[in-house]
Amino acid sequence: MAVPASPFLGVAEGVRFVLGRIAQSLDGRIATSSGASRWIGGAEDLDHTHRLRASADAVLVGASTVAADDPRLTTRRVPGPSPVRVVLDPKRRLGVGFHVFQDGGATLLCVAEEHAADVTRHGTAELIGIACPDGVFDLHALLDQLAERGLRRVLVEGGGVTLSRFLAAGLLDRLHVTLAPLLLGGGIPAFALPQVATPAEAQRLDWRVYPLGGDLLLDIALLETRQ
Ligand SMILES: NC(=O)c1ccc[n+]([C@@H]2O[C@H](COP(=O)([O-])OP(=O)(O)OC[C@H]3O[C@@H](n4cnc5c(N)ncnc54)[C@H](OP(=O)(O)O)[C@@H]3O)[C@@H](O)[C@H]2O)c1
Repeated sequence: MAVPASPFLGVAEGVRFVLGRIAQSLDGRIATSSGASRWIGGAEDLDHTHRLRASADAVLVGASTVAADDPRLTTRRVPGPSPVRVVLDPKRRLGVGFHVFQDGGATLLCVAEEHAADVTRHGTAELIGIACPDGVFDLHALLDQLAERGLRRVLVEGGGVTLSRFLAAGLLDRLHVTLAPLLLGGGIPAFALPQVATPAEAQRLDWRVYPLGGDLLLDIALLETRQ
């Protein structure tokens, strides 16, 4: 069974669509405790991620992912344009030396409003202030700000905290989780969500499963109706 095309390709002009994306080990980890995550999935998993980026308007990550990986978040493995990078760093704790703030590609650094006063740039990135009550971004306001810039097809690429906050806010239309056949024995979890008391209380998701090289791609419909 072939890997499904990017869900972004079927999204009508002007419609917002948020896709969560993560690669996790069999024991549910996205990185070791030291933050090492290269690579959980295989080459086909990386290719799939780059294909998703090439059809997204924006690729969004949390501050800890930039701190741990210094990623470029480009489409260098496939044809197609690189999306705008969006980094969530409420306290503006990241220095300016990371690739996404230096390589000249488009990057938006989202910080709490009080950290955006009188500053517009962070390296080559544009700084934007977002409401952040109690240290947690208002993700609806964030997506509205992105949409005002024409960024409606948003790929949330991790890490686990960032992805989980979108999930908990009910803002993910779909999830593409790669399940890789390795056991890390500990490390950073893919999901950090409020616990349920019994399995019966958990939401049972609808997924389709595709081979992805030596891994599995779990294609999970959340908000949208399955075609
Ligand atoms: N396997 C994979 O597919 C994959 C993908 C991406 C990353 N990773 C790995 O994952 C690890 C990092 O993941 P992580 O879960 O620890 O962290 P993360 O999600 O990368 O970053 C979390 C941090 O980003 C900020 N943030 C994110 N969402 C926010 C929100 N809604 N409101 C306010 N602040 C928000 C906060 O910064 P503050 O702490 O400053 O408040 C938060 O602590 C790295 O080791 C990386 O290598 C793996």
